[in-house]
Amino acid sequence: MIDSTTPTSGRCAIVTGAARGIGLATAHKLARRGWPIALFDLDEGALDAAAASIRAAGGTAQGFAVDVSDEESVAQGAAAANAALGAPLVLVNNAGVLRDDFLFKATLDDWDLIMNVHLRGAFLMSRAVQSFMVAERWGRIVNLSSTSALGNAGQSNYSAAKAGIQGLTKTLALELGKFGITANAVAPGFIATDMTRATAERQGLTFEELAERVSGMTAVRRMGDPADVAHAIAFFVAEESSFVSGQVLYVAGGPSA
Ligand SMILES: NC(=O)c1ccc[n+]([C@@H]2O[C@H](COP(=O)([O-])OP(=O)(O)OC[C@H]3O[C@@H](n4cnc5c(N)ncnc54)[C@H](O)[C@@H]3O)[C@@H](O)[C@H]2O)c1
Repeated sequence: MIDSTTPTSGRCAIVTGAARGIGLATAHKLARRGWPIALFDLDEGALDAAAASIRAAGGTAQGFAVDVSDEESVAQGAAAANAALGAPLVLVNNAGVLRDDFLFKATLDDWDLIMNVHLRGAFLMSRAVQSFMVAERWGRIVNLSSTSALGNAGQSNYSAAKAGIQGLTKTLALELGKFGITANAVAPGFIATDMTRATAERQGLTFEELAERVSGMTAVRRMGDPADVAHAIAFFVAEESSFVSGQVLYVAGGPSA
């Protein structure tokens, strides 16, 4: 729950890529903790349904059509969220895409897309909201990395971006700490979402086949659920976590390295 020292009025949490998957689960989790939620996503139709599902559960939420890789769109989205819900004092950089291929087939367009959504997106969003956090002397930034940051065949673009996210996170922690702002990263393993369903399809497997294969290689013998990741994100957002910054928490059902 929100602690007495957490700003409690005129503030909101922005979750990017919140129309589905891990982002939507995180939006629900933070809404249950009392945060009004600004859901940012490219998918306008899904955004409406996602925001409605949070309101139906008793939370406050509004969707904003934002492309996190576009500077203008990010600036407009941050201003609109501030005007509608209050200062964005929590930012979860979750929006993501995959374009897997082995190096010899990997294209520059795919490389640019992955860098733009994950890295440029996290940079633009963090830069856009830091002024609200600095003014309040309170803020929480949580970035989505991945076990792929440690290297994963077929994911040169994605693993580079997710490793970059870890460097960005540590630098944000160093620069913003004196303003009461923490920055941390969550690095999930295999989580059941549309993203991993598409991975199964690409590998010519049913989702159940891929899930069984991955579960067998995971210490706790199951794949992850979006709620598992949302829980870790909520830990970093909590008032009591103010002394935890610049960390990467692997949420992968076992040691990830
Ligand atoms: N699912 C996993 O196993 C897994 C593992 C490790 C890390 N992650 C990371 O977690 C995050 C969420 O993954 P997910 O599985 O929920 O994915 P998902 O594909 O289910 O959802 C991603 C959301 O991001 C949105 N999005 C994509 N590009 C965008 C852009 N430019 N601007 C705004 N929104 C955009 C999509 O519309 C979608 O709603 C991603 O950063 C992903 O890389 C996922």
